[in-house]
Amino acid sequence: MIMINKKLKEKLKKAAQGVIDNAYVPYSNFPLAAALLTKEGKIFTGVNIENAAYGATMCAERTAIFKAVSEGYTDFKALLVLSKTKKPVTPCGSCRQVINEFSKEIDVIMMTIDGREIIKKNQELLPDAFAKGDIDQ
Ligand code: THU
Repeated sequence: MIMINKKLKEKLKKAAQGVIDNAYVPYSNFPLAAALLTKEGKIFTGVNIENAAYGATMCAERTAIFKAVSEGYTDFKALLVLSKTKKPVTPCGSCRQVINEFSKEIDVIMMTIDGREIIKKNQELLPDAFAKGDIDQ
């Protein structure tokens, strides 16, 4: 069941909007921003950060998650991904895997600047994920 309410969704969109122009995207010219809501109600933002060695690029979602984890926050309620595209953008496979590591029940909100949105549970985006329990057996 999707848990995020309208007010929090707006707050996450504002936070993402506030950083999207910090996306470092000289190669793709495809800026994305993420806003991650912790169980404590804190918001961490992230943008995609590209590199001349393309494979060293970091996605917006993982930037936000790694910022939060390195500050001691590991339980998340919602992650909003903001794009300037016509249709909402969904997190890449690596981001889905990293999201799954921390919060299986998280709502993933995929939203465009002009407000088109799709909301799904990360479990829907990455069913039968490989996870810690597969190692700890
Ligand atoms: N990108 C993200 O930031 N998140 C995703 O989930 C999909 C892809 C970025 C990586 C790269 O900077 C650009 O989008 C094009 O792939």
